[in-house]
Amino acid sequence: MEIAVAGVGYVGLTTAVCLADIGHTVICVDIDKKKINSLKDGNSPIYEDGLGELLNKNKDRLSYTTEEKLAYQKADVIFVCTGTPSRSNGSANLDYVFNVINSIKKSSNKDKVVVIKSTVPVGTCDKVEKKLNDNSKHKFYVVSNPEFLSQGSAVKDMLLPSRIIVGTDDLYSTEIMKKLYEPLTKIPYCAPYLLVDRESAEMAKYAANNFLALKIAYINEVANLCEKTGADIKAVTKTMSYDKRIGDSFLKTGIGFGGSCFKKDTKAFDYLGKTNGCEMKTVKATIDANQKQNLILLDKVLSTVDNLNGKKVAVLGLSFKPKTDDLRDSVSIANVDVLLEYGAEVNVYDPLVLDGFKKLYGDRVSYYDTIDEAIKKCDFAMIMTEWDEIVSYDLNKYRKYMKKPIIYDGRNCYDLEDVKKAKIVYYSIGRRKIGKDKV
Ligand code: UDX
Repeated sequence: MEIAVAGVGYVGLTTAVCLADIGHTVICVDIDKKKINSLKDGNSPIYEDGLGELLNKNKDRLSYTTEEKLAYQKADVIFVCTGTPSRSNGSANLDYVFNVINSIKKSSNKDKVVVIKSTVPVGTCDKVEKKLNDNSKHKFYVVSNPEFLSQGSAVKDMLLPSRIIVGTDDLYSTEIMKKLYEPLTKIPYCAPYLLVDRESAEMAKYAANNFLALKIAYINEVANLCEKTGADIKAVTKTMSYDKRIGDSFLKTGIGFGGSCFKKDTKAFDYLGKTNGCEMKTVKATIDANQKQNLILLDKVLSTVDNLNGKKVAVLGLSFKPKTDDLRDSVSIANVDVLLEYGAEVNVYDPLVLDGFKKLYGDRVSYYDTIDEAIKKCDFAMIMTEWDEIVSYDLNKYRKYMKKPIIYDGRNCYDLEDVKKAKIVYYSIGRRKIGKDKV
């Protein structure tokens, strides 16, 4: 079976490489020449744990092109993996998806299965199928196959998925998809394979992502209340996690969620509810609570630092979460903007995305590739991403290098007892403050 994957972003490239790894021949298509040339040279244009190795391991089954017609004509199955960013009204912008669909239609030469992996509003597969089959000599079968890849562990999530969801209403694509994913449903992968109708598959993605986002927004509100009442959020979430109905994941408190998925998927779900006359109050509350949470660390800074103007600040961690080089909708961006607005001098540190950040901020901030250098002579530090390098950093070094060892930790990286021992002034989320000094 010949497979084409349209779009070589985090989802498309991971999908392509993993499908090659389970034995398929895959051609990757993208209109971005730079990305395709980089792949032809054997280099992944994105950082994703384990992707580089798999790309190399399966190079004989993978090819790359910007020639859409060539790729789509060759393929029996085409995966659409383009982005669906937010429009200003919150709805999902489907332009990239339909650009690919138009191009598939123009290249039409035989019957094909078109798999929509991009996150799209319920009813999109129907529209795509109508568009493709309208006045067409060949038959297109459209399948919804949402992804649940988490950046940083996308390869693992693709090869060992919690579930594979296939949404289709016809027998032909049911058989093709079963064959395509068969290796992942067997030993050693053993993924549960769930066959549903197309609308339910489209809904499943939004329902899952919004539920996870809601969980984060909820636990952050509990954390804020813990701070006011003297409870400790780490102790509270630990007790909650013993309840199997709640579980222990997505209870990590901090400065809220960022990244390209949760932010756009909550907005799109809210919009989908509105346009269907079904207000999603919990989704709206998630969006509002998270927006507030994204700036909660700055609120702490503003209420405890006399005047930010001229203060030297180290911002530690820039990507929206650890183990990714993705800066899209990263919470650090909103925070750095405010710090600069108030006249602070900003030093930034990140183990992976300094170059990407430089493209956004130029010489408005100073860049450091070690924490030691970034915090030198700083008035205070703000932790935005829980990279291992930051979590395992020797706390005594904050005292050694900074003007005063004052830390605002947006990801609760450190144990309060360790912080106390290191004689650091420490503000975190949902826990008591340690130390007395002021900036
Ligand atoms: C998410 C979904 O997890 C994935 O299934 C979907 O396909 C795409 O969207 P991703 O955005 O890569 O994946 O990262 P995720 O690990 O879910 O984290 C998203 C954001 O939530 C990050 O900013 C992270 O820091 C934050 N988060 C996550 C928390 O604040 N607390 C948590 O407990 C978990």
